[in-house]
Amino acid sequence: ADPRRRGWPAELAALAQQVVPAPMWAYLEAGAREGVTRDEAVDAWRAVRLWPRVLHGTGEPDTRGEVLGAPVRTPVGVAPTSMQRVVHPDGELAMAAGAAAAGALHVVSSNAGHRFSDIGEAARAVDPDAVWWLQAYLPPDREAATPVLRAAAAAGARAVALTVDTPFPGTKYEPAEEDWQGHDLSWHRANFADARAARHHRGLRPEDLAWITETCGLPTVVKGVVRADDARRCVEAGAAGVWVSNHGGRQLDRTISTATALPAVVAAVGHEAEVYVDGGVRSGLDALAALGLGARAVLVGRPPVHALAVAGARGVQALLETLTEELSEALELAGCSRLEQAQGLGAPPDL
Ligand code: FNR
Repeated sequence: ADPRRRGWPAELAALAQQVVPAPMWAYLEAGAREGVTRDEAVDAWRAVRLWPRVLHGTGEPDTRGEVLGAPVRTPVGVAPTSMQRVVHPDGELAMAAGAAAAGALHVVSSNAGHRFSDIGEAARAVDPDAVWWLQAYLPPDREAATPVLRAAAAAGARAVALTVDTPFPGTKYEPAEEDWQGHDLSWHRANFADARAARHHRGLRPEDLAWITETCGLPTVVKGVVRADDARRCVEAGAAGVWVSNHGGRQLDRTISTATALPAVVAAVGHEAEVYVDGGVRSGLDALAALGLGARAVLVGRPPVHALAVAGARGVQALLETLTEELSEALELAGCSRLEQAQGLGAPPDL
């Protein structure tokens, strides 16, 4: 895919489709039920209008920032996705290396196919200061998650993103169970001595956030919030970050788009916690729109999997660098030289 050509993310997806096994492709692209939420995610970003600044003496744009105090070279990061070893033999190791090479945050799915210690090592080998987080689900028996949380902390994870929109996986019409026959997925539980910890949650409560921090010492981010009132409850319960997400449209179909939900969450908690967003981000302009509406970082889910499938770690690095270059250009055209200045670009100024 040539990043100078319009539609390169779709070209990248088409290349990936040629190399990804058919049931994995169906799983990767699926939205829940009718796919309404998945389908409108991209257009929701394109509908955001920007209010560029002028006469600010803008110099070379700088895309460096921080997530929870850790420096990153770009606000575009990799969202957690399971099953990466199906698209590339090095799975999360290559994803970690590619993200580290681009100076990007990498969030590792708790359903990773490699051990957290190996993933941490793969990132450190590229950059000793690489920043990665663990994404976690909490099973009804909280103790079953303890070894997973502690293993990730020991391996160098800087935070735990607790996914709260998945009491169980939302129904997707494809792929059928039998389509996976002949695929060895035994590695899929690499980090679970106790398989209960891989299951999804029911009955999550705000207290679970403090329990995570007590158990592994890491700050928590709540992934899967779209409502301002819930965002407030997360922050009151001690969350360091709130991640606006509808799981790429894979959970409750007809959930509001994240581009639409983001501003109210930022207004509710943005002064106390970091706000991140994912879902349908496919360009540097989408990323600028998200920053313009107050997000600290913007995560991409499916595109890095496409890049991983096509070209491994190099592909992931190239994808993240391309999105970052697009963002950098957009920042300068919007009259911003630093990320903080992007805040407020998504609405008319309040005089
Ligand atoms: C996901 N997502 C996800 N989220 C999570 O918290 N834990 C997980 O294990 C997974 N696994 C997963 C697998 C696949 C194949 C996809 C496509 C997605 C959701 C993911 O983190 C993110 O919220 C969305 O993918 C973002 O939307 P885009 O960028 O894919 O449009």
